[in-house]
Amino acid sequence: MSFHSEVIGSGSYLPDRLVTNDDLAKIVDTTDEWIVERTGIRQRHLAADGELTSDLALQAARRALEAAGTPVQEIDAIVLATTTPDETFPATATKLQAALGMTRGIAFDVQAVCSGFIYALAMADNMIRLGQVRTALVVGAETFSRLLDWTDRTTCVLFGDGAGAFVLRAAEGGPDTIRRQGRGLISTHLYADGRQHDILYANGGVSSTRTTGTVQMAGKEVFKFAVANMAAVGGQALAEAGLTESDIDWLVPHQANKRIIDATAKKLRLPEEKVVLTVAKHANTSAASIPLAFDAAVRDGRIKAGHLVLLESMGAGMTWGASLLRW
Ligand code: UT7
Repeated sequence: MSFHSEVIGSGSYLPDRLVTNDDLAKIVDTTDEWIVERTGIRQRHLAADGELTSDLALQAARRALEAAGTPVQEIDAIVLATTTPDETFPATATKLQAALGMTRGIAFDVQAVCSGFIYALAMADNMIRLGQVRTALVVGAETFSRLLDWTDRTTCVLFGDGAGAFVLRAAEGGPDTIRRQGRGLISTHLYADGRQHDILYANGGVSSTRTTGTVQMAGKEVFKFAVANMAAVGGQALAEAGLTESDIDWLVPHQANKRIIDATAKKLRLPEEKVVLTVAKHANTSAASIPLAFDAAVRDGRIKAGHLVLLESMGAGMTWGASLLRW
């Protein structure tokens, strides 16, 4: 028996506290004009004191389960992507499991920074294809604000907090069934290149400093690496599925910077009208950004049943990936 995954619901959550570019201009030497022109970001949401990654994850997960019509008892696995876990251990996924009232199944975290959601999606999809899991909750959740140096204008203006989630359900049949029935996760493609460590990292950790460290970034290098590799993996996903850019209804890229997204879409020959862009509203929320953007476009009616959607990401490591699905 062969299986594939269907994404049967999505949900997302942004914490209440809204911080505009003008608010940031009061604490670092920056302007709304500079941030909008270089990044497309207009505002970000930040978690309140005491509001943790698992709290954001819980809100997004509940909304995704509600959209899917899936009771908590049916979840066999939670795969949660985060760079900002509640605690060093256990996995934030297990805190979410308890908060949801789930008393069985498995729960674990995935760490691939901004590519975390695509990595988590691939792990859940692979378990479903193997028949190990029937229903999976895939979550990207971050309180990235806690990793920022709020005196460093080159990084602190770029990030925000949030969470997003998908519910995946096993369906019988392989790729041909997806083609015939018009629904399902067609493929996932993952990459990492550890030699790129120095262009984006946090300068601390359990084993090195017993602190979290703060974000260190060589912005221009990250920018170039992101455009080249996201365009390449997006092209690979299409080519392997025997599809072309004209088959794509929506590109849902990692929301880090509008200029990176524009340049990647251009390389993929996708017009602006086919790109879901939410970075202006919530800045770079790392592993949460793809499901946040996807969920916004589902709820406002842009992504419709049967649409072909290309997801793609780039994160520290460097890590990158793509996924092709029919909604
Ligand atoms: O998930 C991946 C996460 N990382 C990213 O997505 C980052 C990718 N990189 C970028 O998005 C861009 O490189 C940035 C937005 C970070 C920077 O844009 P840029 O066009 O590459 O600017 P730059 O680094 O060349 O900086 C230009 C100037 C510099 O001043 P000087 O040296 O020319 O006098 C910076 O000091 O802008 C200055 N600058 C700022 N000015 C006002 C840097 N940050 C700010 C700021 N406000 N917040």
